[in-house]
Amino acid sequence: MLKEIFEQPKNIKDALRGRILNNPERIKISSLEEFIDKFEKAKRLVFISCGTSWHASLLAEYYFEELARIPVEVEYASEFRYRNPIINQEDIIIPVSQSGETADTLAAIKLAKEFNPFLYGVCNVVGSTISRETDSGIYIHAGPEIGVASTKAFTCQAVVMLMLAVDVGFRLRKVDLVKYNTIVNELLDLPNKVENLLKESNIVLDIANKYKDARNFLYLGRGYNFPIALEGALKLKEISYIHAEGYPAGEMKHGPLALIEEGMPVVVIAPRDEHYKKTISNMQEVISRGAKVLLITNKSTDEIYSENIWEQIEVEHISDELIPFLTTIPLQKLAYYSALDKGYDIDKPRNLAKSVTVE
Ligand code: M6R
Repeated sequence: MLKEIFEQPKNIKDALRGRILNNPERIKISSLEEFIDKFEKAKRLVFISCGTSWHASLLAEYYFEELARIPVEVEYASEFRYRNPIINQEDIIIPVSQSGETADTLAAIKLAKEFNPFLYGVCNVVGSTISRETDSGIYIHAGPEIGVASTKAFTCQAVVMLMLAVDVGFRLRKVDLVKYNTIVNELLDLPNKVENLLKESNIVLDIANKYKDARNFLYLGRGYNFPIALEGALKLKEISYIHAEGYPAGEMKHGPLALIEEGMPVVVIAPRDEHYKKTISNMQEVISRGAKVLLITNKSTDEIYSENIWEQIEVEHISDELIPFLTTIPLQKLAYYSALDKGYDIDKPRNLAKSVTVE
């Protein structure tokens, strides 16, 4: 898993390779070009996926709604397949899967096909069943992922989703040229930014050590960083067997706040985006109830507006859309070092299989 975490700059480059033309920089995804009319006319996108791929799909919902203004549903394949879903021919169904072999996602595709919508797959494994069962799609080019806990596939899924969303948004005139250029150029620079972040001193190792006796963790985020909170919590529970939950920070008062007691670790992902002040205020609420907060934010000369933060990690400044690529890295490392500290078999966690090909 550590190798795969550190491979991410290269994987991101591979996910971008050949998909951004130079002078001027323009996204060119052949499968999107071929079926652009379907995306331009789509009334709704329905993502179907499981686990980490579901978290990447949730991030895609934020991207597509914000940048392309197309309504999106994000479905757990395991639920979708047993519901009586409403699918229209103007819907695009987007199964997302690293392996391309997940049984629930395959069954959901089979059900969706009964309604005859356009199916556009997002897969890693070339030639996988899901890539064959869809009408078209895009490979994320993350390379073989061996660790059961998905890291580089998540990052590459998110890269591909952002490219798709911004390109569709630009064509639909929902994204102006300035925004488009900013995102495209920041995508091109992303491998460097991730590389620098990975090289930074190993503060996460010390943090994992300090939290090592914790039995419960909460992860909080808003906006683009809510899916990152869910993904951070999933990584921790999968390999370190610590109970962890991700929540939208704004949901705390609706129940989870009752869990906070002296010493409870809470990871707050609060980059300086439009949600910053609100998330910091949620953070203050948990600190005042005794939580030990790890704040993940981005570098800025502005103050943080809160005291008694236990630990803090600052990532580079970048557009809001790309911040999740940076905030997710320390969370992957936190899960890894927590499991390492406990001596667990990180690449083969108990009770789990890399590819869930049976129900
Ligand atoms: O191969 P898939 O992306 O379809 O797999 C879906 C999930 O089983 C997978 O993401 C799982 O949640 C990972 N172990 C998460 O790290």
